[in-house]
Amino acid sequence: MLALGLQGSPRKKGNSDVLLSMFMQALERLGAETMTIDVCRRAIEPCKELVVCEKKGFCPIDDDMSREIYGLLRKADIVVTASPVFFYGVTAQLKALIDRCQTLWARRYTLKLNDPGHKTRRGFMLAVGATSGKQLFDGLNLTAKYFFDGIAADYAGTLAYRHIEKRGEMASHPTAQAEAEQAAQSLMQGLAGRSKVLFACRENACRSQMAAAFARLYGGERWDVASAGSQPATQVNPDMVTVMEERGIDMGFLTTQGLEAALERHRPEVIVTMGCGEQCPVVPGARREDWDLPDPAGQSIEVMRALRDRIEAKVKAFVAA
Ligand SMILES: Cc1cc2nc3c(=O)[nH]c(=O)nc-3n(C[C@H](O)[C@H](O)[C@H](O)COP(=O)(O)O)c2cc1C
Repeated sequence: MLALGLQGSPRKKGNSDVLLSMFMQALERLGAETMTIDVCRRAIEPCKELVVCEKKGFCPIDDDMSREIYGLLRKADIVVTASPVFFYGVTAQLKALIDRCQTLWARRYTLKLNDPGHKTRRGFMLAVGATSGKQLFDGLNLTAKYFFDGIAADYAGTLAYRHIEKRGEMASHPTAQAEAEQAAQSLMQGLAGRSKVLFACRENACRSQMAAAFARLYGGERWDVASAGSQPATQVNPDMVTVMEERGIDMGFLTTQGLEAALERHRPEVIVTMGCGEQCPVVPGARREDWDLPDPAGQSIEVMRALRDRIEAKVKAFVAA
């Protein structure tokens, strides 16, 4: 389970950075795989309102959003933003990332595609500001609310500190560490105790990706889901994306991964193999199920459709068992 941190302050080792580190470390201790994006040091163009996303569901700007960050936002079960208050809003750099998530908003609301992670994904906001006004965090709260909705995450809470200005003030805060631990614990409730399943096929381009999407959609509350391939392809199969979209399921921005890389991060209780051949892994302590499903690579879209329906039925039975 991935928890993704978005560090929005330009100041390295500044207050937002320190608060986010406390929070992410607490999530890691509770079993999450964590990753933090230093937003100000990434190539992220602001939205240019080209409105391609509204029609086609992708943004034509070639930068770290399209290369990496959309995919991470889709993969994550937890997304944590951290920002100082800059003129009652988040920093311009974090706002640029948020605005570019119009692409994910458009896929959800204009193109009506259902993100398989939407049932479990949670968003959390961290904020710091120098002054003490009652409305200090109102602007950030509203932005976070609509950002999390756009990326199909439930807005699960916020931890915000007033009177924090100079570098080092967050690190020496008397209660922040304990409050971060407590907030991380309640954020992880229901996510931490899930059983882990890994779906494995040859290329991680079709079968295991469809199985993982259905498992997240139908059983994400009980199963922490990952997929991988013994010989991962460079990208997922476009016909697979098409047949899933015909069912309203969003497979955008998915990436493929090898079995070894997956197993380093995700030690499954159950591994479901579907044609990874000789290289199907034996994971000590994991129950293995083998699904006899043909490799659709190079076959017609009708074959892909039929396979999608078989996989959906199998996953429904799997999560109901
Ligand atoms: C451009 C700019 C705008 C700011 N605007 C506000 C503000 O509107 N309200 C406030 O309380 N603090 C404001 N601050 C102060 C920061 O929020 C505060 O110093 C914070 O602790 C910095 O966090 P960081 O170390 O993570 O960057 C501003 C600071 C800067 C540099």
